[in-house]
Amino acid sequence: MKTEPLVLGIETSCDETGVGIVRGHTLLADAVASSVDEHARFGGVVPEVASRAHLEAMVPTVQRALDTAGVTLADVDAIAVTAGPGLAGALLVGVAAAKAYALAADKPLYGVNHLAAHVAVDTLEHGPLPEPAIALLVSGGHSSLLRVDDLAGEVEPLGSTIDDAAGEAFDKVARLLGLPFPGGPPIDREARAGDPAAISFPRGLTGPRDLERHRFDFSFSGLKTAVARWVEARQRAGEPVPVADVAASFQEAVCDVLAAKAVDACRTHGVETLVIGGGVAANSRLRAVAEERAAKYGITVRVPRPKLCTDNGAMVAALGSHLVAADARPSALDLPADSAMPLTVVTV
Ligand code: KG4
Ligand code: ZN
Repeated sequence: MKTEPLVLGIETSCDETGVGIVRGHTLLADAVASSVDEHARFGGVVPEVASRAHLEAMVPTVQRALDTAGVTLADVDAIAVTAGPGLAGALLVGVAAAKAYALAADKPLYGVNHLAAHVAVDTLEHGPLPEPAIALLVSGGHSSLLRVDDLAGEVEPLGSTIDDAAGEAFDKVARLLGLPFPGGPPIDREARAGDPAAISFPRGLTGPRDLERHRFDFSFSGLKTAVARWVEARQRAGEPVPVADVAASFQEAVCDVLAAKAVDACRTHGVETLVIGGGVAANSRLRAVAEERAAKYGITVRVPRPKLCTDNGAMVAALGSHLVAADARPSALDLPADSAMPLTVVTV
């Protein structure tokens, strides 16, 4: 009997050096070394700092993943690596390392799309993804709705943000409220003690005219500005800023729009599975709102556990394993890192 493929995945598109090992849909190791603390004082990821940190963390993180999984490089059937999109210098470190491992151990190499990997990671938790599925992809750099007919090949973008990404909005609003970077987790935490209906913040691109042209697109920059104005007005008046209420009301506005548009996409396309991926999918309120809305229409929501939502190597290994099982053609050993890799390209 043919055993399921053992795949090692490498992720370095932003500030996490991730190395994951999976066998089929089973997660064996998920080693992550983050340089987030080195960026915190700048309020955002500094590309050069991230690249250097990847370089230092790469070999020990690969070793840690192999040790955890109890396998050697020789046992691995294929190596997958994030080829894009992401920070150019950061991607290069992962791609160069993956090429070196693939060449040294004589293994096929798959350069994969980071965003498709955020979708594929759910298979490690919930098994094969029913196709077609609608994917809501919400990270620090992207916010998109996709129709996934074949995770190994066909993804159709339905809409995306026309300005800030959802994660970016969380990060900017957190900064405004004096909360640490990255802003998603502290806002999520603060919001639990706040009233989501305390302040009525705008829901971008949800008016009737907007829906005609931007039905499945998002906009979060107006919301971010509205929060800034509201906070500034309180500060000018010398009144304290109710951080928990602002966090909860802001978070509610984001989750409301994301869930509404994702469920609308499922209904419009007659699709019964919604999968949510990317760092913002770790948000506790987004999970709850999406599940509540989707349940009304018999739509199943699949969201991986929070640790698999934020960047990691397991997601890359999961997509690699899917590609191996689908007999996809491996990438050439001179594959480039593509910082602007389009959403529609799953593997290069
Ligand atoms: O997918 P990811 O780890 O990296 C990118 O590919 O961008 O996403 C990072 C983003 C950050 O903006 C972070 O604030 C956000 O995900 N994030 C969250 C939560 N955890 C991480 N946003 C909302 N709620 C969370 N619990
Ligand atoms: Zn990501």
